[in-house]
Amino acid sequence: MSKLGTETTEIISWPEEGVTRVPYQVYMDPSVYEQEQLRIYRGPTWNFLALEAELPQSGDYKTTFVGDTPVVVTRDRDGEIRAFVNRCSHRGATVCMDSCGNTKTFTCVYHAWAFDAKGDLKGVPFRSGVEGKGGMPEDFDTSKHALHKLRIETFCGVIFGSFDPHVMPLQEYLGEKMCGYIRRVFNRPVHVLGYNRQSMNNNWKIYFENVKDSYHASILHTFFSTFGLNRLSQRGGIDMDDTGMHHVSYTYGSSNENEDTYKQANLRSFNSKYKLEDPTMLEGRKEFADGITLAIQSIFPGMVLQQIHNTLAVRQLLPKGPEKCELHWTYFGYEDDDDQMTTMRMKQSNLVGPAGFVSLEDGGVGELVQRGIVRDKDKSSFVEMGGKTVQSQEFRATETSIRGFWKRYRELMGY
Ligand code: FES
Ligand SMILES: [Fe+2]
Repeated sequence: MSKLGTETTEIISWPEEGVTRVPYQVYMDPSVYEQEQLRIYRGPTWNFLALEAELPQSGDYKTTFVGDTPVVVTRDRDGEIRAFVNRCSHRGATVCMDSCGNTKTFTCVYHAWAFDAKGDLKGVPFRSGVEGKGGMPEDFDTSKHALHKLRIETFCGVIFGSFDPHVMPLQEYLGEKMCGYIRRVFNRPVHVLGYNRQSMNNNWKIYFENVKDSYHASILHTFFSTFGLNRLSQRGGIDMDDTGMHHVSYTYGSSNENEDTYKQANLRSFNSKYKLEDPTMLEGRKEFADGITLAIQSIFPGMVLQQIHNTLAVRQLLPKGPEKCELHWTYFGYEDDDDQMTTMRMKQSNLVGPAGFVSLEDGGVGELVQRGIVRDKDKSSFVEMGGKTVQSQEFRATETSIRGFWKRYRELMGY
């Protein structure tokens, strides 16, 4: 056992086996949660904030989070994207209370300090007091009281923010391979079709592991395999960036080869006797020239970009305490979609979201883990499917990208 992580009140003992073991303590310890907010979310990471398509006009804004810090993303008068902490520089009140809108000025309800879309302080009521009495001191300088600004970079219309002024440029952080997969989906202007939000009673990392876990999909999600949408026997693999912190799990469209693997293994997930009452729910079009029908991409620490057939969405994972997290889904299509395509995307989206035919189980299985480990923080999980290394693999019966996550997590956390 190596004893590292000296800044946490309780020391994490990471098992000697390294990334093939995860001490359950990291899913429940409040001091670990605190350190994550500093070292990961306020550290050298880029965090998904919004799509540019959500803020098309000057003055448009959206409220969101980086880790558990509330943040406002805006498009300023010059068309530039900005972001700042949603915390008044006077005495800390939440400045913007709507989830989205358009405004020139953000005025705090408490004492009406007013800020522009850049986050700069523009107005302070009673600055000179009342009838010459009271008011701010002589040396009060509005330029010293802007809202806390984040660094912003966009890639293919996806907006990322960082608290760390020294974080590496976004494209370097994503790496060439991951940029390629983002470009693949955001290949032309998109428009938002809708949103979902869900709350989960588990640590955020349990959900992120689930996203990176291609091994579970055809076993846990019986809908997938029952209707032939995704089987591990289909051609596919895991692609990772050089650090291992991001990943893509990709699957090529239906093929009947190797289906026998399922029959022989007698997995409950192979069952052809069920038929959909309304098969139009799964109707779609082939739209990616590379033939990939399912691509799930994770960007450390909390973004997921999904293409499940014609269902395109970004998921934003937000920690809400050691044993709670939220998932914010943004569904989108392309601006040049015809009505039929939009209808197909909407119908197919029944697969995903909090009550989706497929993703419903992902929202529940995390809580099963959280409940199971409750009294065993000194024990560890076992992550050796597909080997013990962190590397891209041309198969999906593997946990390689989960190991990749923990590799980067440990570096950032000092464990
Ligand atoms: S706390 Fe915002 S104006 Fe006072
Ligand atoms: Fe899943």
